[in-house]
Amino acid sequence: MKPVLHTEDLTVAFGGVKACNGISLDVYEGELLGLIGPNGAGKTTFINAVTGFVPWSGEVQFDGSSLKGLPPHRIAHRGLSRTWQSLELFGDISVRANLEVAATKLTPMMAIRDYFGSSERVAERVDETLAVLEMEDIVDERPDDLSMGYRKLVGVARALVAQTKLVLLDEPAAGLDRNETTWLAERLRQVIDFGISVLLVDHDMGLVLNVSDRIHVIDFGKTIAIGSPSEIRDNEAVIGAYLGAGGGDE
Ligand SMILES: Nc1ncnc2c1ncn2[C@@H]1O[C@H](COP(=O)(O)OP(=O)(O)OP(=O)(O)O)[C@@H](O)[C@H]1O
Ligand SMILES: [Mg+2]
Repeated sequence: MKPVLHTEDLTVAFGGVKACNGISLDVYEGELLGLIGPNGAGKTTFINAVTGFVPWSGEVQFDGSSLKGLPPHRIAHRGLSRTWQSLELFGDISVRANLEVAATKLTPMMAIRDYFGSSERVAERVDETLAVLEMEDIVDERPDDLSMGYRKLVGVARALVAQTKLVLLDEPAAGLDRNETTWLAERLRQVIDFGISVLLVDHDMGLVLNVSDRIHVIDFGKTIAIGSPSEIRDNEAVIGAYLGAGGGDE
């Protein structure tokens, strides 16, 4: 198996604080990798670094080539998408329109191509994404009128619609109840079946243990464990980190 994302010694410093301190992490093709760690461990910073929103040192390779020095829109254009810890949706236009905006806003070059007639391709991609996530019933609804579970799913769909190879999800289950979380987990496995790799950050340990193929655990910016869900569940260093942080719940 090839890694779609490979980081080597990834380090992000904010003044004297190394929010990520030498993280070497792989996400393989067709894999759902869970990235967990207590509050302040550096998970969001890791996503921000890989997607070009904060400067970093070390190495980041996506799909076999380095992302060094690339701005966020060029990284997104290569097929690496993300969601935000806070939802960024247009609440009062339809779900379909939200996805169309996400699918067309990538780069000026793509906008020009769209002008010369590829808007059918955008509509096709939107339909495909809606089908993968089984969202056809809500295409004409407005996010403002949907449950939190569906709003989160629209956020995931927006990240997927832009011809994505890997999507980085920052706490998609925050604010969801148990039923909504189970339902979201099923949708995330469908994303994998569709050939898109996923890096999932979440504090819901049940969700992460249940849907991940492998789990990478960080604490204070450093890797403390990598393994299968059952290995991570029993790992002393992981249990210690979470006990020290008061259980890891928000
Ligand atoms: N822009 C910034 N400037 C200074 N320090 C920052 C900045 N962003 C994050 N940090 C610090 O970096 C560390 C890692 O933060 P980060 O948000 O990546 O953690 P996290 O694992 O996502 O936590 P949470 O689970 O609470 O979302 C923290 O100590 C945080 O205070
Ligand atoms: Mg975070």
